[in-house]
Amino acid sequence: PAIRLEDYQPPAYRIDTVHLNVDLDPSATRVTATLKLRRQPETPAGSPLLLDGDELTLTEIRINGNPLAETAFKADAQQLEVSAPPAEPFDLTLVTEINPDANTKLMGLYRSSGTYCTQCEAEGFRRITYFLDRPDVLSVYTTRLEAPKKDCPVLLANGNLAETGELDDGRHFAVWHDPHPKPAYLFALVAGNLAEVSDSFTTASGKGVALNIYVEHGKEDRCGWAMDSLKRSMRWDEEVFGREYDLDVFNIVAVSDFNMGAMENKGLNIFNDKYVLADPETATDQDYANIEAVIAHEYFHNWTGNRITCRDWFQLCLKEGLTVFRDQEFSSDMRSRAVKRIADVRLLKSHQFPEDAGPLAHPVRPKIYHEINNFYTATVYEKGAEVVRMLKTLLGDEGFRAGLDLYFDRHDGEATTIEAFLASFEEAAGADLSQFALWYEQAGTPIVTAETEYDPDRKTFTLSLSQEIPPVPGQKTSRAAVIPLRFGLIGPNGEDLDVAAPEGAIVAGDVLILDKAHQDVTFENVAAPPVLSLLRGFSAPVRLNQHLEPRDLAFLAAQDKDPFNRWQAVQTLAMRDLVRMTHLCSQDQPATCSKDVIDVFAAILEDAALDDALRALALTLPSEADIAQEIGKDVDPDAIHAARSIMRRDIGSEHKTAFQRFATGFAPEGPFSPDAASAGKRALANRALSYFALPGDAAGQDTVWQRFTSADNMTDRLAALTLLVHDGAPQKDDALEAYRDRYKDNSLAMDKWFMTQATTPGPKAVDIVIALMGHPLYDATNPNRVRALLQSFATGNPTQFARADGAGFELVAESVLEIDKRNPQVASRLLTSFRSWRALDPQRSALAESALLRVSACEELSRDSRDIVDRTLQ
Ligand code: ARG
Ligand code: ZN
Repeated sequence: PAIRLEDYQPPAYRIDTVHLNVDLDPSATRVTATLKLRRQPETPAGSPLLLDGDELTLTEIRINGNPLAETAFKADAQQLEVSAPPAEPFDLTLVTEINPDANTKLMGLYRSSGTYCTQCEAEGFRRITYFLDRPDVLSVYTTRLEAPKKDCPVLLANGNLAETGELDDGRHFAVWHDPHPKPAYLFALVAGNLAEVSDSFTTASGKGVALNIYVEHGKEDRCGWAMDSLKRSMRWDEEVFGREYDLDVFNIVAVSDFNMGAMENKGLNIFNDKYVLADPETATDQDYANIEAVIAHEYFHNWTGNRITCRDWFQLCLKEGLTVFRDQEFSSDMRSRAVKRIADVRLLKSHQFPEDAGPLAHPVRPKIYHEINNFYTATVYEKGAEVVRMLKTLLGDEGFRAGLDLYFDRHDGEATTIEAFLASFEEAAGADLSQFALWYEQAGTPIVTAETEYDPDRKTFTLSLSQEIPPVPGQKTSRAAVIPLRFGLIGPNGEDLDVAAPEGAIVAGDVLILDKAHQDVTFENVAAPPVLSLLRGFSAPVRLNQHLEPRDLAFLAAQDKDPFNRWQAVQTLAMRDLVRMTHLCSQDQPATCSKDVIDVFAAILEDAALDDALRALALTLPSEADIAQEIGKDVDPDAIHAARSIMRRDIGSEHKTAFQRFATGFAPEGPFSPDAASAGKRALANRALSYFALPGDAAGQDTVWQRFTSADNMTDRLAALTLLVHDGAPQKDDALEAYRDRYKDNSLAMDKWFMTQATTPGPKAVDIVIALMGHPLYDATNPNRVRALLQSFATGNPTQFARADGAGFELVAESVLEIDKRNPQVASRLLTSFRSWRALDPQRSALAESALLRVSACEELSRDSRDIVDRTLQ
């Protein structure tokens, strides 16, 4: 059934406290829940109580200690109804029996490598006991865990440890109490035989907090970076947002089977181990950056998500958009702000823009859903963060901070809404955000068109702006949004002109606010024609349609004081050329890269004033998927692949010696360090290596092999392996074998081995993936492994996923059907890789459609996959 925002009703009953007694057993865990229930004043006395369940078996039910007559309640796997509960507050005791080992959905209580763990967001708690499983029911939890001490020496739940003790038969127990009222989705427990890595933190007000990271034995020495990131996050949230931690202990547990990245359960964060474990041998610089960001993200949820949570799941962006914004800011402060911004915008454009342009488009705050798990999307998370970022741009640093402070003050302890969030900013900063709120309501990426005209007689520079959102499913028309455009007019010497605020436009400092469908802005006293640098820092999540001459783009690439727009200018130049070359390639005509592009790339390489990581990013060609998105319709993936390969070859061969110099002489000195500066050096050296060692060049590939065998860190080793494999170097099989021998016992490192092969360009990829599905190390029940092989193939190998004979689509569709039986969330996520199918050429889109129809024809499809396939075909 469809759930609609407009149908929201407050709960009829509240649950003030929850006492859980969990008697752990691999296949028969007994959960005794005692809930203190209270009828709401608006609820007529005697109204039935309806509690959510999911695959539950009820074995006992009591009210105020008295067993309930069979006629007084109805229980099935999905729901418990108590027909006439007491009018006054009462205790409801429920006993359910669940089977963690049989829980392959990884929602609720399950086991990962023998460790009991939980995932309750969004609706997993109802797989543990019957409950009002909705985020606006806040309760104080006390959790007692009981298990054999030998199997489960570690027993954890939310909050502070209250009591432990020994029992008969080698069993023991622990009681945890969480004083902060919370919704059920933040509940967690963990039990198992885990190693503990401990540290401590003293808050700004002087309170000591014990910090622990729990991992499988033998992995303790890979927790250092995560612990360091946690301490830096805690300090940063105090310094930048004035937010302190509020329990005696903060626990993190790493598990190897996890549907998503990590989960912010109060005081007990549970992580996919790929976002915890790192050492130079096994983690890339990207992994280190991801760990830092995800640890911070989950920690920051303690205020934005836990202390203040969501009224209903439509408000998901209230916690996710804001928390992503906060983790982005943290990483920017820890590293290079410009590099972080470029990385975030690349992610937004590669993941969120296609989502917003296809059948799965939805507003940052959706209005309707069938399965909430399908709304943990790039739109809710990443576009949601961009909306918060725009708020900061519009209100200024102080107005933004004041609004956020008011929000924390006013709503602490509540489950609230986007309206309440915006109202805090309106009040604290004295702003009217009614039109701005459209960012939460409207789906689709606005296209901003900018045209300019210089009048040499009147010395005026006129900027004509317009905005529109192309139609998306369920939204034919749209209203003008408030779009902050950071800009500069650059004079011939490369300096920004100091122009007066023009008439008829709202300009605050270097930000111009476009809030109408069309708007003309005229700058006076402009002595010579300037070059317009628009959307600096990517100040709004829009597609900018601005024609710049190649000469102007080259100027911006070399001169813009805004590093983001320098990067953007290089990318725009390359993209235009790639589109031109793709059209030639698709007609089997000769194509070569234009001289402008080659020159700009060489200049960037040599520009030592630029951050190394930024240079590496600027020298990275737009991906095949980016090019497909730019072309938009009748996409021919093979032509895109050909054009991109030619551009790499032309740039590389024209500046061979320069690339060689950077490829071989630029590594950071001394022992490995994961810091941003060293990572930047490695990134630039490896990028240069990819231009120096071109496919078919034996000497170049020898250099890559050398790098592979002599590397002292995973970043260099994996970069070399990827080049050898993707370029079909003669050493590729030896390299794959050596890598496998080295890492066969390390699953995170082996994920990279699977991923590297799944993304091999060229017609062999489908066969490679099929063969790897039969590999002894392939495990279709482990989400990370499935994503490494199948998700990377479907999204990271667009040419072969969209193979002209349909074999790529078929492989993914079959896999979705197979996985869906066990783990609907992993299956439906994989299925979203079809989302841009209508943009493909007619033959390919017909094949994609028939693969989707095959999935749709399966009658036992999960609600998750049914929802995605229906919307994708719609
Ligand atoms: N709240 C988590 C985070 O962003 C994500 C959990 C999503 N889980 C799910 N099953 N949908 O940090
Ligand atoms: Zn989150």
